[in-house]
Amino acid sequence: MDLEASAGTIVSIIGPNGSGKTTFFNCISGLYRPTAGRVLLEGADMVGLRPDQIVAAGIARTFQTIRLFPEMTVVENVLVGMHTKTKEGWLGAALRTATFNAEEKRAAERAIELLGFFGENLLPRQHDLARNLSYANQRRLEIVRAMATGAAVLLLDEPAAGMNPKETSELMADIVRLKELGRTVLLIEHDMVVIATISDHVIALDHGCKIAEGSFDEVRHNPQVLEAYLGRGAAGTAGDSVVRA
Ligand SMILES: Nc1ncnc2c1ncn2[C@@H]1O[C@H](COP(=O)(O)OP(=O)(O)OP(=O)(O)O)[C@@H](O)[C@H]1O
Ligand SMILES: [Mg+2]
Repeated sequence: MDLEASAGTIVSIIGPNGSGKTTFFNCISGLYRPTAGRVLLEGADMVGLRPDQIVAAGIARTFQTIRLFPEMTVVENVLVGMHTKTKEGWLGAALRTATFNAEEKRAAERAIELLGFFGENLLPRQHDLARNLSYANQRRLEIVRAMATGAAVLLLDEPAAGMNPKETSELMADIVRLKELGRTVLLIEHDMVVIATISDHVIALDHGCKIAEGSFDEVRHNPQVLEAYLGRGAAGTAGDSVVRA
């Protein structure tokens, strides 16, 4: 497996269930330590760094299975994401120094600003507990928390999972806005309409290996990709099948 993502692009990773997409994200984000290979962020190797160090270096993620702090409020979840950015340590917190208080105020303002990325979806719910949010809003909050780290690269693992068609189409526009704000997005998604609409580049995985890459049209007509999705012998059928897969 190898891929290169240029700054400010959306690179999508597709592949059947169990093909290794999430595992790939786990390797990039430091949850797994790859047995071989490198993960370069502007030339610096991330392999061997702790997940929090990788976030600080500029790669943040969301999870396929939502991992918010359910008993914390929406805004508190965002503040957790910003934790790597605040300079004053535990001593400052304990003594509640002026620097600490000023920093905390700035962080809270910034958190509200970030929640505004999703318009009126999250702002009115900033003091709700995360567990009381709708599924779509929980997914949005995970994205905001990743944005809050200030990371240039965002790894989104099936952000549209569980969203209805309206929410999904809003999400597509939101991800494009992330790119317009200069973020680089690696996107795992099963919804092929999402992949087809917003990807700059698509990588297809099967059994942990890259089997195709290119534009969505190039990838979806690739015989190996059709075979991976439909099984051997089915590759002769229309390439449109991947869109419906
Ligand atoms: N550390 C590991 N060691 C060995 N096998 C693993 C490890 N982690 C995951 N796997 C296996 O690797 C395969 C790929 O899993 P992964 O979760 O990356 O797939 P995926 O492409 O994200 O699938 P899905 O679309 O269902 O989310 C699965 O069969 C999984 O059980
Ligand atoms: Mg997965």
